[in-house]
Amino acid sequence: MSAQISQKHPTGLYVLFFAEMWERFSYYGMRAILLLFLLDAVRGGMGMNAGEAAAIYGLYTASVYLLTLPGGWLADNILGQKKAIWYGGIVIMLGHIILAIPGGSMLFFLGLTTVAVGTGLLKPNISSIVGELYPEGGARRDAAFSIFYMGINLGSFLGIAIVGYLGERVSWHMGFGAAAIGMLLGLIVFRYGSARYLQGMGDVPPARIDTAESNAQKGANKRLGYLFIGALVVLLIVLQTSGVLDMTTAQGLAKGAGIIIVIISASYFLFILFAGGLTRVEQHRVVVLIILFLAIALFWAGYEQAGTSLQIFAERHTQRVIGGWEVPSSWFQNFQPTFVLLFAPVLASLWIYLSSKNLNPSIPVKFAAGLILLGLSFFVMVAASNIAVTGQLASPLFLTFTYFLHTIGELCVSPVGLSSYTKLAPKRYVSQLMGIWFVGASLGNLIAGIFAGGFDEENIMQMPALFNQVAIVTTVFGFILLIFWKPIKGWMGGIS
Ligand code: PHE
Repeated sequence: MSAQISQKHPTGLYVLFFAEMWERFSYYGMRAILLLFLLDAVRGGMGMNAGEAAAIYGLYTASVYLLTLPGGWLADNILGQKKAIWYGGIVIMLGHIILAIPGGSMLFFLGLTTVAVGTGLLKPNISSIVGELYPEGGARRDAAFSIFYMGINLGSFLGIAIVGYLGERVSWHMGFGAAAIGMLLGLIVFRYGSARYLQGMGDVPPARIDTAESNAQKGANKRLGYLFIGALVVLLIVLQTSGVLDMTTAQGLAKGAGIIIVIISASYFLFILFAGGLTRVEQHRVVVLIILFLAIALFWAGYEQAGTSLQIFAERHTQRVIGGWEVPSSWFQNFQPTFVLLFAPVLASLWIYLSSKNLNPSIPVKFAAGLILLGLSFFVMVAASNIAVTGQLASPLFLTFTYFLHTIGELCVSPVGLSSYTKLAPKRYVSQLMGIWFVGASLGNLIAGIFAGGFDEENIMQMPALFNQVAIVTTVFGFILLIFWKPIKGWMGGIS
């Protein structure tokens, strides 16, 4: 009996589950119709071309995850996680309300920015408070994260189904309004649930408790930070004035953002590697973190095309009529969360079974598998687009199979990725490196956006070649990881 009780999860987990479920409902629901809205010129959308629309989409989705860095910082230093989640949720809801008002592009961009800021505040903190419920760590914490991941995907499923349908079939703004209502429900759950079941958690900003870092050290780090930001600004000015980038266009801005993200991540890694006072073993582990960062960014760059190039493919080139009814194209994005819900338990049991035989694949092997599956999925899209370029509609089975491969890949990299990141990180850098994990997602989303700019209506002949590029790059990276998995595992220094 007592064993059974200790297996039970605290009610607080379910508060976080439902709050995050509704937040993801609003995020993925809105995202499912975002590109369609940007492209649409007949139903009151923005009427943009593919290049511009995809760049804005990429900038938005990248900002959402990049803003988790200041969001995490605010919670750690000023607000505490609970307030950060609460205010973040309110800001997200306001953003969706702004989007729900039919207005000009100014209002629209204000709405998008507001949602991004709010998500930056909510997302990292709701994930870290899950961990806090299980201070002892271990298998129960891992199980809690799997349950939480289910909440994320249940929310995306419902959001894509409802917001997608309303947006495509009723009106875009009605869709955005539904996203706002979803977030409101999340806020209600969080307000009442956290008061009762998350007492004493996430109230005090951790930085107020932890005084290990001396004030002199803090001052030095601050100065270094300002210097770094100054250097970035100078670089951007040079790029703009020399004509290398034109950041007055969406595409130019997206590329500028890409450069910033790459420089921030590279400098951060170099800084902790050489100036972080690491032991030899820790340095090796950081090298592994860099490899995993590149792998995860590349993975999301392909995976997140669900909202960009694959969304365009579903809308324009896929046979979607079933029994006389045309399935909304945004619903195809629902294959990813559906497959997660179906296959997460299967993969979890597979890892347990393999562990019992001492055959559980190491982290680099799982990442390799994820990338190779992703690569294969894009070879499927090469075949589908070869049909589309003849002017025929491709069978929906192509996208279904593509998303199946995506999801199995996701289940190899995403759940183990975050936990291995926290395990491999030198202790005093754990929360910063968790932030870097989100930066990987940010970079991937940005690339997924910029890349889809090539999917213009006028240029459909280049589709197979574009999909082929993604397929080759990801497969090759996957095989490189597979070849070198043993030395990489060696550098992990006994962590698996
Ligand atoms: N489906 C995941 C989520 O929304 C995707 C993701 C993974 C996003 C890692 C950010 C970071 O949580």
